Amino acid sequence: MIYLGSDHAGFELKESIKDALEKKGLKYLDLGTDSLKSVDYPDYALKVAEKVKEDKDKNSFGILVCGTGIGMEITANKVDGIRAALVHDEYTSQVAKEHNNANIITMGGRTTTPTEALRFIDRFMSAKYEGGRHENRINKISSIEKLNI
Ligand code: RB5
Repeated sequence: MIYLGSDHAGFELKESIKDALEKKGLKYLDLGTDSLKSVDYPDYALKVAEKVKEDKDKNSFGILVCGTGIGMEITANKVDGIRAALVHDEYTSQVAKEHNNANIITMGGRTTTPTEALRFIDRFMSAKYEGGRHENRINKISSIEKLNI
């Protein structure tokens, strides 16, 4: 499952992502927002992050879009177990999975075109987490979460 969320600034890009996922026959769940009316991005980042956290299927992930992708990334990463990565080209999309095992990618509706967004998503989905030396680093992130500092 692909969990989608945006604020008003990411709404249009989210809609075009939805169309593309539908055409590819990929399952998604749209958690809002549902219009261009101004809303607060943390509300949608939290909804998506919670769903991703609950979903134990390792192929599931989230896509969050705000104006820049920054607010969504910051908020989603407050949730335990979430590794949200702001992707801005195909390389960052690929290594977000290969090295960071990101479970959410974030993008900017004001910085990324629909065509670019689809390329980033394709690249993310076709990449494989490499484990190995990266696993130790990800375990360190989890230990930092447990410190509650
Ligand atoms: C909304 O204007 C904008 O601040 C928001 O979409 C996002 O870019 C924040 O990071």
